[in-house]
Amino acid sequence: MRVGVFFQAGEPAVMDMVDRTVVVIDVLRATSTMVEALVNGAQGVYPAASTEEAIKLASSLGPEDTLLCGESKGLMIEGFDLGNSPREFTPDRVTDKRLIMSTTNGTRAFLMAEDADRVLACSFLNVGAVASAMGEAEEMVIVCAGREGRFAADDAVCAGTLLMRLQESHDGEIKLNDAAKAALELANKFRVGAEFLAMTDGGRSLVDIGFREDLDHCARVDRYDVVPEMEDRVIQLRSLGEADQPVSH
Ligand code: MLT
Repeated sequence: MRVGVFFQAGEPAVMDMVDRTVVVIDVLRATSTMVEALVNGAQGVYPAASTEEAIKLASSLGPEDTLLCGESKGLMIEGFDLGNSPREFTPDRVTDKRLIMSTTNGTRAFLMAEDADRVLACSFLNVGAVASAMGEAEEMVIVCAGREGRFAADDAVCAGTLLMRLQESHDGEIKLNDAAKAALELANKFRVGAEFLAMTDGGRSLVDIGFREDLDHCARVDRYDVVPEMEDRVIQLRSLGEADQPVSH
């Protein structure tokens, strides 16, 4: 298996992703929220590249069972139904709903990867499940959403944690690019938890705007045994078998 890591969404060229399995990571908070929403019964998440695109998509899908969700500068977009805190996406709010989502980095990262063979959503909440889902993939690309074109330590450590799991579960040798080696080093250095997230740029800015509790939520490792996958620009859980229920700790 060969694994390439990219530390921000705009870095990989389309050619780096075509015919490959791409894993998108945006710990704070897009992929954490997608996992939470889908486990809590949302029908699907429709990533949008902007607020305008989200509004257009919502009107084309029709108001029934459709919710607009997302953030700008971390806060809920005016006129939307939900923001981007995973704690808002409860079963009573999202069951059977189509979620049109626009965020600063995460949703754009998915759209940039749409020509890949498979596109999966990863966060600390489901990192083990994503590693298991890799199976015999030959070529894998991990795209960290980053922060507006800059490196994000939370995403990089999640990428490193995923690589650790792959090394544990994969027999053969795993060839890594330099960014993947760096991500592994970071995952070996930092202990995943709300304290670690609070010292990252993304974590600090969330605390500054009153979302401290989101760090506790997004720092939980292997909370869910699910692997959301994007197909035709919709992110869904493929099969809701027993294994997809929240793992009780
Ligand atoms: C993003 O996609 O940039 C993040 O998810 C933003 C956030 O949740 O604040």
